[in-house]
Amino acid sequence: MHIESANSAQLAEWEKELSAHYERICQHELSLDITRGKPSAEQLNLSDKLDGILATDYRAADGTDTRNYGGLIGLTCARELGADMLQVPTDEVIAGSNSSLTLMYHAVVTGYLFGFAGNPPWRELKAPKFLCPVPGYDRHFTICEQFDIGMINIPMRGDGPDMDAVEKHIKEDSDIIGIWCVPKYSNPTGDTYSGETVERLAQLGQIANPGFRIFWDNAYSVHDLGHYVSLPSIRSATLENDTIDSVLQFASTSKVTHAGSGIAFVSASSANLDSLKHQMKAMTIGPDKVNQLRHSRFFTEFTTLKNHMHKHADILKPKFDCVLEHLQNGLGDSDLGQWDKPEGGYFVSFNTRPGCAKAVVKLAADAGVKLTPAGATFPYGKDPEDSNIRIAPSFPPLEELDTAMAIFVLCVKLASIRNRLQETG
Ligand SMILES: Cc1ncc(COP(=O)(O)O)c(C=O)c1O
Repeated sequence: MHIESANSAQLAEWEKELSAHYERICQHELSLDITRGKPSAEQLNLSDKLDGILATDYRAADGTDTRNYGGLIGLTCARELGADMLQVPTDEVIAGSNSSLTLMYHAVVTGYLFGFAGNPPWRELKAPKFLCPVPGYDRHFTICEQFDIGMINIPMRGDGPDMDAVEKHIKEDSDIIGIWCVPKYSNPTGDTYSGETVERLAQLGQIANPGFRIFWDNAYSVHDLGHYVSLPSIRSATLENDTIDSVLQFASTSKVTHAGSGIAFVSASSANLDSLKHQMKAMTIGPDKVNQLRHSRFFTEFTTLKNHMHKHADILKPKFDCVLEHLQNGLGDSDLGQWDKPEGGYFVSFNTRPGCAKAVVKLAADAGVKLTPAGATFPYGKDPEDSNIRIAPSFPPLEELDTAMAIFVLCVKLASIRNRLQETG
């Protein structure tokens, strides 16, 4: 189906056929959901042995009684796990409670109220701003919005953000104090940053405001679907460029064990960790060390964790294949959209023809298929092209996903043809 070259009679005929098909589907009163990237129950089951793993042995190897207060930066054994996930030294890691998003929020609070590593707080700037590679993760943007930190869209290019645009903005505006990066299997594009991108990001600390920080949200560091994809080390690159203070790295076990009760990690230079600890120590006496110990007994070595991730991949891969097959079979030979074929992570990013995403989401919702709202992958919920839709295959059972994707493809066709009919009058 190539609507660009179709005449209006052909478009009208397709519209009639597809509308009839769509009306029949609406009568089924379906209720399917491919919105958020949550692990399925089957994936969560993989970690159920966490429960009870301590028996009554609550002491960590260093003698800490994990039931008691204390230990602001987390148990050493938990920090070791974070160090393995982020490929950094253990003494550069804080192991926190369950959510890396919470740690990112705290890092923004630290930068905004107190400043990092002796630099002035961001709130003293006239118009502090973050660079936001798009499409991106909506919750990053929500944090900025809450602090009234401005956001500048930077297009994703397949190997990371458009670095020419990043460097240009940073050179022109010293109020830019951060950039959000999901460097491996980016949410939602699935891109992994190239060596060149990592190197150029590491050099930003030489030209940016000294308070500038790269928020390196490595949420999908171990979430390969088939073969392992390696991400160049931002730590090594910043060490070589003498910019180690410019980066804060984050990860968690949310999509490794139980999504709501894992461990989150932040890694940074000692100067940055001191700034974070200054804020944390007023806020908490320490994280949930019992849970940290449970995790380190569950993953006695990093290889155990990697093997565990293979089991996740066995469950997730058929779901990604299902999404990609529907897109290829239904839209492969068409001018109705483009999509990525991720090798890991949690999402498939789909771009409709400009001006069609909202209509697709609405048609799908009316047919009983819930999609992430169009625009959610952009700051302020505004996709300038009204084109990007994030598909999250992980949560629904395969049969439901199969039905949902068939309806999605139908809605893409119908919305695109209706839009083209309007365009051509
Ligand atoms: C890029 C990214 N960062 C962070 C998170 C949330 O992580 P956590 O559960 O550790 O707060 C998600 C969840 O979808 C995500 O996609």
